[in-house]
Amino acid sequence: MNEIKFIECATAEEVAEQAAQPFLDAIKANPESVFGMATGSTPLGTYAVFVREAKAKRVSFSRCATFNLDEYVGLKPKDAAHSYRVFMNNNLFGPAGFNLDRTHFPFKWDEPIKPGTDFAAYDAHIAAAGGIDVQYLGVGENGHIGFNEPGSDISSRTRLVKLAEQTIKNNSRFFDSEEDVPKEAVSMGLGSILKARKIVLVANTKNKLKAIEALRNAQAFNPEWPCTALVAHPDVTVYWLAK
Ligand code: GLP
Repeated sequence: MNEIKFIECATAEEVAEQAAQPFLDAIKANPESVFGMATGSTPLGTYAVFVREAKAKRVSFSRCATFNLDEYVGLKPKDAAHSYRVFMNNNLFGPAGFNLDRTHFPFKWDEPIKPGTDFAAYDAHIAAAGGIDVQYLGVGENGHIGFNEPGSDISSRTRLVKLAEQTIKNNSRFFDSEEDVPKEAVSMGLGSILKARKIVLVANTKNKLKAIEALRNAQAFNPEWPCTALVAHPDVTVYWLAK
């Protein structure tokens, strides 16, 4: 057995509420908390809890800082709505009252990437902000976290990555066609993620069960299932739905 805490929830609502709790606790203890944020379908329930709590004025996110895990490279202008920046602004930052100046991405999706860009500057930026207090993670069907696809190095930093075929297929549900799904992204590395002080991983659909099983059984990092990098971390809680 590894040290990861696995909390099996009965409903998607329970997953959302429970996974939100470590963030709400952190912000109540320190309004300037630094959060690592994820995109995709998984966090939507949790983000709705953040919005509800902020609107009810039980919590304020206005002084916290955020660093998102990843961003697509090469999005067509017609797909602006699928950029992770736009996703976060619409689903969380706007409605929950974050200060956009304190929300960060590995690069600006709508500006050309300058040749020779060292994306690891993002890791230095996170460190300069004091490091991530609580990191939210979804997980890909193939076990990816962020866009660290199978074969990623456990010490990897923020960098340009190629998306796996399965990821492109899975994410095509958000686009008009599979052709429109970017083939590359910039993602925090496994090493970047492991620097967070606390990690929350959420799996709330059936197609994630194999990845959760791999994580439950892992005694050490297995690059075929990137999420198993988390066995090396001292404070990980997984909130998951078994059916
Ligand atoms: C995406 C993201 C990941 C996310 C995963 C699962 O493409 N880059 O950060 O956790 O794949 O996505 P979903 O939550 O939509 O199932």
